[in-house]
Parts: sequence; C-alpha cells; structure tokens
Amino acid sequence: METKLEHRCECGEETEEEKLARIAQIAEDFKGQEGSLIQVLHLAQAIYGYLPLHVQQLIAERLEIPLSEVYGVTTFYSFFSTKPRGEYTIRVCLGTACYVRGGAEIVKKLSQQLGIEVGGTTPDRKFSLEVMRCIGACGLAPAVMVNDTVMRQVNPDKLNRIMEMCS
Ligand code: FES
Repeated sequence: METKLEHRCECGEETEEEKLARIAQIAEDFKGQEGSLIQVLHLAQAIYGYLPLHVQQLIAERLEIPLSEVYGVTTFYSFFSTKPRGEYTIRVCLGTACYVRGGAEIVKKLSQQLGIEVGGTTPDRKFSLEVMRCIGACGLAPAVMVNDTVMRQVNPDKLNRIMEMCS
C-alpha cells in the first residue's frame, strides 16, 4: 500500500542567498556532532534541490572538514545528487529481488517513456530517472520510489498510473 504523493510547497521561493544562508546556519548548528555531515547534506539537498560544488564547499567550510570528505560522501551515496534533478525523481530498485521480478524491465520502459537514460533528467526538469539498491521492500518487489514515496509490486499498469499521478 503506497502513500499519496507529496504536495509541493507553493509558498514563495527563497532566493539563492537565503538558501545558502540557511544551509550555512544548519552546518554551524550541526558542527562537531557525530554523523553531522550526512544530516547536513540531506537538509542541504532538501533546501537547494541538489548539491553542486559551491554548496559542498560551503558545508565543508562550516563543518570545518576537508572538501574531499564532503565530495566522497555525496558521490558515494546514490540519494545525493550533484546535478539538478527533476520535480519527480523516480528511482527503480535493482536489488536482487526487484531485479528478478522485473526491475530491469521497468527501468527500460521508463527510460523509453521519458526519453532519458538512467541518471538523466527530462529537458522540462519534470522527471529524473535513477536506480537504487535494496530498500527493504523485497517481499513486494519490484519496488519503485517517486521522491519519498515507495510504490510496491510495480507492473506496467501501475507504472502508467504513477506517470499519470505525476503529470
Ligand atoms: S531488492 Fe528491491 S526492495 Fe529489496
């Protein structure tokens, strides 16, 4: 049973400076705490949408850690992105259970339907397509995530409904 897709906030957009100031403040607040880098990166990505180099640099400065450490984490974890993403990020699980139950076919179908490769974003910035490792929903494979919503037992029919919900 999947939950409803989140609604996008429709209040006024923050300026670039405001976003960076908020990220800087968050990093200051987390400085010195265990596991702070991952938490700050999550929050920064939620604020900025992705993690370009200048945002990583800001975080490194405020947490007083090397940029290489920040860069290593952002590039290691697939849920961090250094490139702008679409309004909807569709992630298809390619863990073993999902793979054998059609995960690869889902990737192929989405790639054709959206006209982008894995890792790509549609020109209108509506959709990004990614793959991920097991998210622990193997019993109801194949699983697909749309932003933060997990869709289970995805079949072609369900895939079309997902696309309609996002349109
Ligand atoms: S393999 Fe996809 S949820 Fe576990």
